[in-house]
Amino acid sequence: MKLNLFATVACAAIALPAMAADVTYRNDVAPLLKKYCAECHAASADAPSMAEFKLDEEKYKKAKVGPRSDTYEHLLQLVNGNSTGAFMRRLDDGTNPYAKGKPGNMYKYLGETDAERAANLTVLKAWVVGAGNQWDMNGIGQRGDMPPITLEQLRKMKVKY
Ligand code: HEC
Repeated sequence: MKLNLFATVACAAIALPAMAADVTYRNDVAPLLKKYCAECHAASADAPSMAEFKLDEEKYKKAKVGPRSDTYEHLLQLVNGNSTGAFMRRLDDGTNPYAKGKPGNMYKYLGETDAERAANLTVLKAWVVGAGNQWDMNGIGQRGDMPPITLEQLRKMKVKY
């Protein structure tokens, strides 16, 4: 399973333009999140919706569950919804200019090795902004020195179902 995914991604990396058209939530992202994130971010783990999570973040952090990302609609809250940019901020490998070399705190869950994490990140980036493009981490409001997201940045997102 792990080898398969890796082999698929390795091939996809060689044929980036082909992958760009093909990365979808239902074929690529959902299985990936199911494998790596569901134990803390799915209904099966008693994870809350984003709205519920925001009501009592401390309680959910103690229970070691984060907001649900096990349906397309729940996941988009973290990408371009209520918590715009959270997905990118938490998963970035530290190469985004605003990350200043520090990977997001969910990056480690993307795999057991650097190669596995990098391959999975490539798929997720291709899903959000298209293969080979740097994703943005901006939120709805100003965050430190990072300005709020612009309409152009929002329009750039693909997030195909
Ligand atoms: C071992 C449990 C665990 C795993 C596995 C895990 N997470 Fe999380 N995640 C959490 C917890 C707990 C929080 C809330 C605390 C925090 O913000 O760090 C969180 C928070 C987040 C947030 C921020 C939500 C917000 O807006 O406040 C995102 C985005 C996220 N996780 C994505 C992921 C993705 C994608 C994966 C899989 C690659 C993943 N997580 C794997 C436990 C986990």
